Amino acid sequence: MVEAARILQRCDALARHSELEGGLTRVYLSPEHRAVCALVLGWMREAGMQAELDAIGNVVGRYEGSRPGLPCLMLGSHLDTVRDAGKYDGMLGVIGAIECVASLNSRKKRLPFAIEVIGFGDEEGVRFGTTLLGSRAVAGSFDKQVLEMKDSSGIALADALREFGLDPARIPQVARKKHAVLAYAELHIEQGPVLEAEGLPVGIVTAINGFSRLRVALRGQAGHAGTVPMHLRRDALAAAAECVLAVEMIAKKHPELVSTVGRIEAKPGAINVIPGEVTFTVDVRAPKDALRSDAVRAILAEIKSISGRRKIEAKVEPLQEFGVTACAPWLMQRLERAVAARELPVRRLPSGAGHDGMAISAIADIAMLFVRCKGGISHSPLESITADDAAIGAGVLLHFIENFETNAVPA
Ligand code: GLV
Ligand code: MN
Ligand code: MN
Repeated sequence: MVEAARILQRCDALARHSELEGGLTRVYLSPEHRAVCALVLGWMREAGMQAELDAIGNVVGRYEGSRPGLPCLMLGSHLDTVRDAGKYDGMLGVIGAIECVASLNSRKKRLPFAIEVIGFGDEEGVRFGTTLLGSRAVAGSFDKQVLEMKDSSGIALADALREFGLDPARIPQVARKKHAVLAYAELHIEQGPVLEAEGLPVGIVTAINGFSRLRVALRGQAGHAGTVPMHLRRDALAAAAECVLAVEMIAKKHPELVSTVGRIEAKPGAINVIPGEVTFTVDVRAPKDALRSDAVRAILAEIKSISGRRKIEAKVEPLQEFGVTACAPWLMQRLERAVAARELPVRRLPSGAGHDGMAISAIADIAMLFVRCKGGISHSPLESITADDAAIGAGVLLHFIENFETNAVPA
């Protein structure tokens, strides 16, 4: 019913568009992003959809239902990647959904609702330090102030959009009305080891963990690495090192908590100069919002205490926060039926990673289907899935779509 080999071939084709030679890095609104938009638009049209790029840089394909203009079942995932990424995080969900529509189209099957497939432009937040830009625009929660955020070269989001040929003033038009979207379903690789450990090809997501992101700037005093005695230094990097360990230690106190310092920059950055300025990021996640906010508070207190003791000036900027997003039980049941229809065991599991559904949940109930990945590895070039598992995942999604009943949508 779905062409498994084509799913992996298309993931390979998208992965060839990378700024990183010999690997995969594709950030939002880059030339590589433009190239994959063109490919995906072509595949959507080939699958019988009307497809276009929206004002935030999402690729949007629409397959009409039994008559034009019906509310849609929304499917999709993202087309941007982290740095030195794998080929399937995001892309599997876009290509798998197109494959489902291609199957319907090849049978000339129209449903009592439309299907929209979206390749979100930004989910990872690598370029502008804020995530889910594409899905937030669709959900109508895009904050105009974000347009002023700058990338590492000082280019503002508004200018990057214009450079890409998009009009930031049209972003509000990307927002969907609640009644126009019946539900949102996303196919995604698990990005963790649970399904593989249990010998299962797919699993049904119960909820997506919440996250908090911070940027911390420490200012000490740069100086000569040979002349300033240790007790007279205000070394911003040594202070940051203590903060990094505190971030780790706080998360280690609770098995459900994770926290990461994923990026750090020290200035001026020379072997013989005491670092005077450091910035680093903090990412905290948990399946319970109170647990996460307690951890953030503990991290802030540690940063204050470490910087005070070392006579370092510390500034903390909250970057972004999302609460736990539950998947809708009625959609999970329907996914379960689709899994059971293939005589596979039904496994429910939470998602530690963030997904576009977090934003889309503001306008529609959401569901997610995870596909097993090798070694549970993701956000790495070692990310890998089998063609068989991709086919099972897309096949379950297709079953879910074909058995979706519009009268089951809660009012
Ligand atoms: C996205 O992949 C995230 O969870 O950071
Ligand atoms: Mn990711
Ligand atoms: Mn992803």
